[in-house]
Amino acid sequence: MTRDRLSCGALRAADAGKMVELCGWINRRRDHGGLIFVDLRDHEGVTQVVFDPAHPSFAEAEHLRNEDVLRVRGTVRTRPAGTENPRLATGDVEAAIEELEILNRSLVPPFQVNADEAVDENLRLEYRYLDLRRPRMQENIRLRHRIIKAMRDFCDERGFVEIETPMLIKSTPEGARDYLVPSRLYPGSFYALPQSPQMLKQISMIAGFGRYMQIARCMRDEDQRADRQPEFTQLDVEMSFCTQEEVLETMESCMRYVWQTVLGIELSPFARLTHREAIAKYGLDKPDLRFGLELANVDAVFAATEFVVFKSAIESGGSIVALRYPGGAALSRRDFDNLTEIAKQFGGKGMVWISLAPDGMKSSAAKFLADADVAAVTAAVEAEPGDAILLFADAVPLAHAVAGKMRNEVGERCRLRDPQTFAFGWVTGFPYLEIDEESGKPAPAHHAFTAPAPGDWALIDRAPMEMRAQHYDLVLNGWELGSGSIRIHKPEEQRRIFEMLGLSADQIEERFGFFVRALEYGAPPHGGMALGIDRIVMIACGEENIREVIAFPKNQGARDLMMDAPSSVPDQLMADLHLRRAPESPSRG
Ligand code: AMO
Repeated sequence: MTRDRLSCGALRAADAGKMVELCGWINRRRDHGGLIFVDLRDHEGVTQVVFDPAHPSFAEAEHLRNEDVLRVRGTVRTRPAGTENPRLATGDVEAAIEELEILNRSLVPPFQVNADEAVDENLRLEYRYLDLRRPRMQENIRLRHRIIKAMRDFCDERGFVEIETPMLIKSTPEGARDYLVPSRLYPGSFYALPQSPQMLKQISMIAGFGRYMQIARCMRDEDQRADRQPEFTQLDVEMSFCTQEEVLETMESCMRYVWQTVLGIELSPFARLTHREAIAKYGLDKPDLRFGLELANVDAVFAATEFVVFKSAIESGGSIVALRYPGGAALSRRDFDNLTEIAKQFGGKGMVWISLAPDGMKSSAAKFLADADVAAVTAAVEAEPGDAILLFADAVPLAHAVAGKMRNEVGERCRLRDPQTFAFGWVTGFPYLEIDEESGKPAPAHHAFTAPAPGDWALIDRAPMEMRAQHYDLVLNGWELGSGSIRIHKPEEQRRIFEMLGLSADQIEERFGFFVRALEYGAPPHGGMALGIDRIVMIACGEENIREVIAFPKNQGARDLMMDAPSSVPDQLMADLHLRRAPESPSRG
């Protein structure tokens, strides 16, 4: 008789007769007709262990509870006919107990670990170790590991070198607020945690590494969303002497390799569209390309309208954007009112609807619409009888943005957003500058190290808002997966961009002196990109929140509920760091 320690997912009918050792957690314990059944779970599966009342361990088995940790020895036998469990890989067999060792006891868990039932997220995060024991989370974190491994393998194959960049650095602007670390040795001075390794990877190019990659942790103090965490992970890449096309080809091939090796899916070539096309057709710079429903600008149809909503939008330089809602004629007035409310939540002024119902056209603006207007709008969005058409009149680009968000909503309602479909796309040719929501001032749409489009330097004084950037984004199913750019590699050009952004010579020296100096020592032309790994894994797992694919995330309020961070620190530590407590904050000895 052989005896082996096996995983709880290993046993099959062919193992009958073997004596085996299994270690794991109690997934479930059942008393049945005098027998006790314990389903023992580890990371590989579940095996049924049977305790017979005649066995000396039976009395102990009566007191076992879910999540207790056991080592058992038992004889493998096939289950009696009719009691097999086809849902378990080990479901044809069971282990008859020979020896029981209780390695540890568990308190009663605050939620069921053996089922993927809905549990309050904060409770899950507080007891993350129990949450992570659940099958769905185990699968997500393991898939994450395989995706990251595939990324590393791909980059290694292509000659990239992984370079670890420091966590304690000087502030790097990526558009968010920095997390700061006070210095003990230099009173009043701070390190910043990297928002990304942007300047360091560029300096790696200046240092002659040619191809850099890193699975890089980034820290940004920004408002939380479903696709944002204060700490997140990027596949960060930089290449010397490259064209934009080479970066796109590298990253596209990398994604193709990951999907093929990890998910077994062959991706078709990624869609390509310019930023202008993305906004015109889909309203957003991260379009969901799983479905059509392209928007149409219908300003020309309403050029002479007396309908005040449309007229005032056009007169003030705005636009009217139309969206087809397949089958939307079945909606009630109340449904359209609800959609109008949603359009307002998206920031729009409102919405006009046209229903192409079998019993005749209906519309919230019926008396202002001539038959020819309806026919022209219908043709513009390629609507059919039985559809509805939604119209958004607003300033540019708000009208597009609201229509674009509504397009996603309509796509969702019409079940056009299949999570098993992966529609990747490149968006290129972004404007260099955009108006920053917080400050209301022009700021780089990507970052200040991005090179303007060749030929657009001429616009820098005359019309800076019209400059385009050598900046590209990778989008997937309506999410922004990653961004990158060809960089500025000439020191005088880098200074020129900083000046355009309103920095004085002193400010440039104080904040970026080291970087511009590095550019002065023979910086090669270079470019790169960073992909958000949490977002990639989220979409690959069919999840809708990146917290589901991060082992130890912060909650929506940026708190770590398991460790209880952020938290106060002892007064002595504060003093060592030259920090004084704000009057209202609690002190700790
Ligand atoms: P960017 O700031 O666009 O570019 O970030 C690249 C990608 O990182 C992911 N990402 C995030 N994921 C989770 N939580 C966040 N708070 C978060 N912020 C960003 C997104 C995003 O597309 N240094 C440049 C890249 C470069 O130019 O090479 C950068 O970091 O998926």
